Amino acid sequence: PPTSLAIRGRLLSFEGDPAVEGPSVVRFWEDGTLVVANGLIEAIGESGDMLAGRAKGLPLADHRPHLVMAGFVDPHLHMPQTQVIASFGTELMEWLQRYTFPEESRYGDPAVAAAGSRFLLDELLRNGTTSAAVYCTSHPQSVDAFFGEAERRGLRMVAGKVMMDRGAPEALLDTPQRGYEESKALIARWHGRGRLSYAITPRFAPTSTEAQLEATAALAAEFPDLHVQTHLSENEGEIAFVREAFPWSKDYTEVYERYGLVREKALFGHCIHLSDRERTALAAGGASAIFCPTSNLFLGSGLFDLEASRAAGIKTGIATDIGGGTSYSMLRTAAEGYKVLALKGEKLPPLQAFHMMTAGNAAAMGLGDKIGRLSPGYEADIVVLDSEATPAQRRRMERVETLGEELFCLMTMGDDRSIVATYAGGRLLHERDKAPFHPLEA
Ligand code: GUN
Ligand code: FE
Repeated sequence: PPTSLAIRGRLLSFEGDPAVEGPSVVRFWEDGTLVVANGLIEAIGESGDMLAGRAKGLPLADHRPHLVMAGFVDPHLHMPQTQVIASFGTELMEWLQRYTFPEESRYGDPAVAAAGSRFLLDELLRNGTTSAAVYCTSHPQSVDAFFGEAERRGLRMVAGKVMMDRGAPEALLDTPQRGYEESKALIARWHGRGRLSYAITPRFAPTSTEAQLEATAALAAEFPDLHVQTHLSENEGEIAFVREAFPWSKDYTEVYERYGLVREKALFGHCIHLSDRERTALAAGGASAIFCPTSNLFLGSGLFDLEASRAAGIKTGIATDIGGGTSYSMLRTAAEGYKVLALKGEKLPPLQAFHMMTAGNAAAMGLGDKIGRLSPGYEADIVVLDSEATPAQRRRMERVETLGEELFCLMTMGDDRSIVATYAGGRLLHERDKAPFHPLEA
């Protein structure tokens, strides 16, 4: 494949401070062309200028009239839960025991973990998602499988081995010592290799003893630049459990604060039932809150308060949470996010939603200087979107006049059928109208 190419279409990107996840400057080229070289975006501008200049003579992918934007970023999902999605009838704690833990127990088998990782990454690419923060299982083999598949595809991925030493079947439990040592070995093997980063991943407070949280604190202190990912304040039953298990703590967030886990690049999934004190603590620590709307609706967990999260100054992302979540699509996720906020009288305007799915989620993950926008020097992770992929979309688009309206229809009505092509690291890894592309056979 060529190391340089040009991509033409209706280009949309969000600029502004790469460390800040809030709404930023919108850049739009109705007929734009960008140049990709060596996996990076090298130049971007009006097609007239670009085709006579930097893009001259390069292979050209002409995606007009489709929209072209940075690949979607999904800051919270579970690799071993692709066969847990749509498990009937439970809230979080029972859902974990009845469906999720038995399923995750299978992932000690490297063949199961490899098949699950392959499926997940192909499906993310089919949905336009090029980067994610991923929970594997407590088995180190599951992390080897996942990172191996991500490396083959050249994806920027953040992932980690789940640490959990209580409250689950034996096959899923580690110990404080083993969780620490296995995590440390995985960091040595994978962190910083190509585009891969390791995330220290205690599942959540209910499945770790204080001894394990102490070992986690030691690991986090040894690796202050690493991501941390866990769950926080998702479900009332979960919160009651934490209150009993950590009687010294005034609230859920203080448990994580005590062990040094509320810090930059710490991603807290859900954050639904937080007090003002907890929001202030997350903001002060530089941590991120991750809104998981399809999961929160499906498990009946509650309604995330985006306004309160933003007002407190917390970096905020939006994610699928597969397999509590029900769709791999960030478009479907944004649509459900809009509805959750509507129930609270809040609004999620389309430009803000697309900013969140790209540059905002990248910033919430501390990757705002590498991915999430179409700017020179950024990694060439790109999605091409068709606003008229279905009869219903085509019908609705007849009455659309502005880019904002188009984007709102795209997020409200769109899904994988709207994903025309997905590039990662400058390579075309998914094309809607072609047979599935398998990098492994290439
Ligand atoms: N809390 C602890 N583990 C999980 C999980 O796997 N999914 C969700 N949604 N919440 C959790
Ligand atoms: Fe989760």
